[in-house]
Amino acid sequence: MLTRKARPLVRNRPDAASGEQIPPEDPPRPTTKERRPADAADRSGHIRLIDLTKRFDAVNAVDGINVEVHAGEFFSMLGPSGCGKTTTLRMIAGFEHPTSGEILLDGRDVASIPSYKRNVNTVFQSYALFPHLKVFDNVAFGLRRKGVSRHEVRKRVADALEMVRLTGLENRKPAQMSGGQQQRVALARAIVLHPSVLLLDEPLGALDAKLRKALQVELKALQQEVGITFVYVTHDQEEALTMSDRIAVMNAGRVEQVDEPQRVYEEPETMFVADFLGVSNVMDAVAGPAQGGACRVRLDAFELRADCGDLAASGPVKLVIRPERVRLEPHGTLGENRIPGMVERWVYLGNAVQLLVHLACGADLQVLIQNSGEGIPFVQGTPVGVHLPAGALRVLSSAPAGAPPDRGRGGPPAK
Ligand SMILES: Nc1ncnc2c1ncn2[C@@H]1O[C@H](COP(=O)(O)OP(=O)(O)OP(=O)(O)O)[C@@H](O)[C@H]1O
Ligand SMILES: [Mg+2]
Repeated sequence: MLTRKARPLVRNRPDAASGEQIPPEDPPRPTTKERRPADAADRSGHIRLIDLTKRFDAVNAVDGINVEVHAGEFFSMLGPSGCGKTTTLRMIAGFEHPTSGEILLDGRDVASIPSYKRNVNTVFQSYALFPHLKVFDNVAFGLRRKGVSRHEVRKRVADALEMVRLTGLENRKPAQMSGGQQQRVALARAIVLHPSVLLLDEPLGALDAKLRKALQVELKALQQEVGITFVYVTHDQEEALTMSDRIAVMNAGRVEQVDEPQRVYEEPETMFVADFLGVSNVMDAVAGPAQGGACRVRLDAFELRADCGDLAASGPVKLVIRPERVRLEPHGTLGENRIPGMVERWVYLGNAVQLLVHLACGADLQVLIQNSGEGIPFVQGTPVGVHLPAGALRVLSSAPAGAPPDRGRGGPPAK
């Protein structure tokens, strides 16, 4: 294991030729199994961003974000193009100076610490390999600059290449390798330096979909193996959901929600998050006052019970449900949260069937039913009972996407 081996004491030096950051040495980190959330702040690789802001002339690229990344965590920053992901990463790396706010690495304000002295390394989408150097020398480059002994370099490069499954390709040049292999060299080159934080900016962005998926799994396994903090930037929601311990969803320079993948997907706190992560059905509704995290919601002539989390707003709201959470039943089935509907469209997707159902309240819903091979009785033109389970309904503020969530505000009760 790379991170737990004894390391020689070496001097920190900037690598002017490559722009590479040479981190200072740090004590061996605990294994994934040894990690405890309670001591996360004490261990190497902990990051805190406090009111972090970056303005480029009139553009608020990063707009006062507050984020905590635990040591050893796989943390993703997810959001659409231009929302400030790369700018945030570049500020953590030290390539960009914040306009205001603080960055704490392991509790220490890094404002005055140059990038090459931060114990942080970056992997870029473009790989940034030296084309004239062999794989071995690309990976060894940073170690040699640090003055690590030849014997140690050989050992550490071999370990790193084994980790990214490139043993045997040491003598190839980057041009003689596939995109996926080049990306692995870039990863090995970063990991071999034993940073406590690895920043990854869309590292799989240049690869085709199949290879991307394979590398997502590998990258996650690698992160668990080395146990260092990964801050991973992507605009691909599936990628973030698959790999991350937690995700920060960003929009227009702000963080809309930070949560575990399941919560971000199933309990979005804003319309933007609900919309950005997967397909959501959104209906206009009127909510009554919340009690114990639930409230009554009026959808035209129908009253439903819904989870509303800590949203205390009543009055006009958005009611959100994922297509796979809608249940179809025979027409006329009685019970709570049922609305009659009609199947208007039926699309075969192979592993599932996607239906468009028109509800008696006027809304159209997308419904996804897994194909279990037993046949799906709800063909086009079938009247159905549509069950919207209370636990699957999210009540969100009807404020426009990007506006802060409407929390704790009272309002008129539902009609
Ligand atoms: N050096 C710069 N000068 C001026 N504006 C900049 C600069 N760098 C970034 N911006 C602007 O800041 C905003 C955020 O950019 P950033 O590169 O952080 O977005 P991003 O989330 O990484 O997007 P993408 O997914 O396209 O990479 C954008 O509006 C961008 O045009
Ligand atoms: Mg970017």
